Amino acid sequence: MVVKIKDGIYWIGAIDWDVREFHGYETLNGSTYNVYLIRDEKNVLIDATKGYLFQELMLNLKSLIDPKEIDYIVVNHGEMDHTGSLEKLVKYTGAKVVTNERCREHLELQYNTEGWEFITVDDKEELEIGSRRLKFIKTPMLHWPDNMVTYAVEDKVLFSNDAFGQHLASSERFDYQFKDLELLFEETKEYFANILLPYRMLVPGVLETLKKLEIDYICPSHGVIWKEHVGEVLERYLEWSSDRYVNRAVIVYDTMYNSTKKMAHRIGEGLMDGGVQVKIYNLSNTPMNKIMRDILDAKYVLIGSPTLNSNIYPSVAKFLAYMEGLKPADKKIGVAFGSYGWMEMATGVIKSTFERLGFKVVEEDCLTCRFVPKEEHLSRCYEFGKRLAQMDL
Ligand code: FEO
Repeated sequence: MVVKIKDGIYWIGAIDWDVREFHGYETLNGSTYNVYLIRDEKNVLIDATKGYLFQELMLNLKSLIDPKEIDYIVVNHGEMDHTGSLEKLVKYTGAKVVTNERCREHLELQYNTEGWEFITVDDKEELEIGSRRLKFIKTPMLHWPDNMVTYAVEDKVLFSNDAFGQHLASSERFDYQFKDLELLFEETKEYFANILLPYRMLVPGVLETLKKLEIDYICPSHGVIWKEHVGEVLERYLEWSSDRYVNRAVIVYDTMYNSTKKMAHRIGEGLMDGGVQVKIYNLSNTPMNKIMRDILDAKYVLIGSPTLNSNIYPSVAKFLAYMEGLKPADKKIGVAFGSYGWMEMATGVIKSTFERLGFKVVEEDCLTCRFVPKEEHLSRCYEFGKRLAQMDL
């Protein structure tokens, strides 16, 4: 399948309906690896696909042009999901690779680049390809040191690579074709929360640069192309990078014999009755990336774990490591809770993580319980939740 974006510019990427795991990110809706073709005096590909999608990419490319007529392959970012097919692509087309110094280094460390011809570009440098100019804008650490975006100046098209993307396989290629716009923004938010969050402090500066450009289309390397909602997705990125929160509590737990689960639900009921929006997630059946989407702008994070073998429950330990790496905004309110048998060890681990993240930790006796919580204990959990909602923190 190929899709015309505007005269001379085409989507020729690959839709992966099957992918469910992306270095720890559970992609329940699949993903796409977007590649773009620009036809001019010089023919240009923007980015590539994962290695196993090479044949699909070639099929799409061949439907529009003889691959040997490709002059340049612009590589905005060296990660393998956009470069896995590059060795074959360079060999097959004979094209020059246009990228920045850092990305070139990353490519040389990942692939056999012997014989590749590189054109190394710097920030704001332009490359004429006939009637068009391509302008390269470095966006380091969003999310690798090598990231850049490419702007087709005359067409007002921004090829943004990972930025503004979503892990979303769909038959729709453009935002305006999507019936459920909020779902699209939720997927975009989830992507932001799991890929860009640790580097969000750099986002406002990049947005300032991008806002100086006239942008008709944002063409990311995953998911749908932004056309009707360009301004809105830029605004949402600004909002998600602001560290502002809403009155939401995310309660995350795992459980052995439902004791910690009972506590989670009763604390949640108290918070709800106190006027807080509540999301409760059991780690045994919820992808961590979905939870991080809601934690991004939540005021409260409550994490529950049983004590197992004098330690925190393994799934909770895994989640804490994942969350800490993503460095959600500090100033959130953190609550640790859980059931234990004879030695309580889990909540201390959770609280240490909260402290390292700069969360304000709230503690109460009712947040730990030996074996199974009786109704009296659960009532105290409920009252705690209700009080927490009213605390001036
Ligand atoms: Fe950072 Fe889609 O790769």
